[in-house]
Amino acid sequence: MRTQVCIIGGGPSGLLLSQLLHLAGIDSVVLERHTRDHVLSRIRAGVLEWGTVRMMERAEAAERMHKEGFLHEGIQLAAANRGFRVDFKSLIDSKVMIYGQTEVTADLYEAREKLDGVIVHEAQGAALHDLDSDAPYVTYVTDNAEQRIDCDFVVGCDGYHGVSRASIPAAKLKTFEKVYPFGWLGVLAETPPVSDELIYANHRRGFALCSMRNDALSRYYIQTPTDDPMEKWTDAAFWDELQRRLPNEAADALVKGPSVEKNIVPLRSFVAEPMRYGRLFLVGDAAHIVPPTGAKGLNLAVSDVHYLHKALTQHYQGERLALDHYSPNALARVWKAIRFSWWMTTTMHRFPDQGEFDQRIQESELAYLESSAAAQTQLAENYVGLPY
Ligand code: APR
Ligand code: PHB
Repeated sequence: MRTQVCIIGGGPSGLLLSQLLHLAGIDSVVLERHTRDHVLSRIRAGVLEWGTVRMMERAEAAERMHKEGFLHEGIQLAAANRGFRVDFKSLIDSKVMIYGQTEVTADLYEAREKLDGVIVHEAQGAALHDLDSDAPYVTYVTDNAEQRIDCDFVVGCDGYHGVSRASIPAAKLKTFEKVYPFGWLGVLAETPPVSDELIYANHRRGFALCSMRNDALSRYYIQTPTDDPMEKWTDAAFWDELQRRLPNEAADALVKGPSVEKNIVPLRSFVAEPMRYGRLFLVGDAAHIVPPTGAKGLNLAVSDVHYLHKALTQHYQGERLALDHYSPNALARVWKAIRFSWWMTTTMHRFPDQGEFDQRIQESELAYLESSAAAQTQLAENYVGLPY
């Protein structure tokens, strides 16, 4: 088989890139190691920057999002039992879309099918070859037979544990990493959300977040040690701890119920530079990881897709240097999101070695945020998404 762009990974970034390239007249093949049902079974965050909404509109995949998604014009922050709102609308005339990431991926699958996009599922053992030549190719196995795709370019949309970044010689990559000394225990419950907006709470016992998927499906998180045994966190224990960390009004309004999904995830910041090696480009989690505090994971992947689909389109229109700009352009925005996610995480969480002084500093940072439109504006413009 031959194609112009071989995309490794059928998650949101791989599907979005394939769709945008198709609409630009560039053919691609997506290799996904799992089944479509497996990809769509992942429960993930649902805060979309408005830039992500615009990219889904350009991909002709935003119709259901506009029907079923929720517009949020602000978030609530809380500390020392006091809450305040950061109003995106009045500060920067902006908003975010609340729409499950699984739905984004499902909509992209449907859009690819409508245009007869080529997605190979259960493509096992993908291996990238001759990336530093002008004739790269990818091999993989389906139905116990080895397949080969010759292409102009390979794009790694295969996440943190994928094969793409691992195919780059270590000497050609510089990586940056920060592992946070705690994780998030996340619970999905078929209960009405405690608030019609997200609540980020800083508490001496640890961080808590109240989110939602829709008006009957709530998503909650509390900071926990990464190695906490799951058996410690019965539903009752979770609800009690969440309630302790929320301001009184939210704690009183909390509707408890059986969890339908419960797990602990670690938090890290990670960046690999550059996001290119020869004919291979890295996109999304394959190149960077953010702590979920700033809800940047999917949005940053979409940002990379914006820069890469633009560079590939310009390349095929004859601009031979266009692709040289992808990595520096994408990284410039990646590091701003890495910074914001780090800042939100360090401001809102209680660190194991944190003393009373540090707690007071966090509480004064939040008090400053509460009192300053300038401080709230910097939070708002980063949260809704900086311009591409
Ligand atoms: N071969 C083929 N497919 C692979 C391989 C491989 N060797 N390794 C991983 N994949 C597939 C995974 O099965 C997954 O479907 O690549 C896809 C990667 O998707 P994501 O992990 O979702 O990464 P990405 O598309 O960059 O999305 C970025 O959105 O999925 C969320 O929160 C997540 O921050 C992340 C963001
Ligand atoms: C979620 O809804 O899962 C979510 C929302 C906001 C975040 C992280 C996760 O910052």
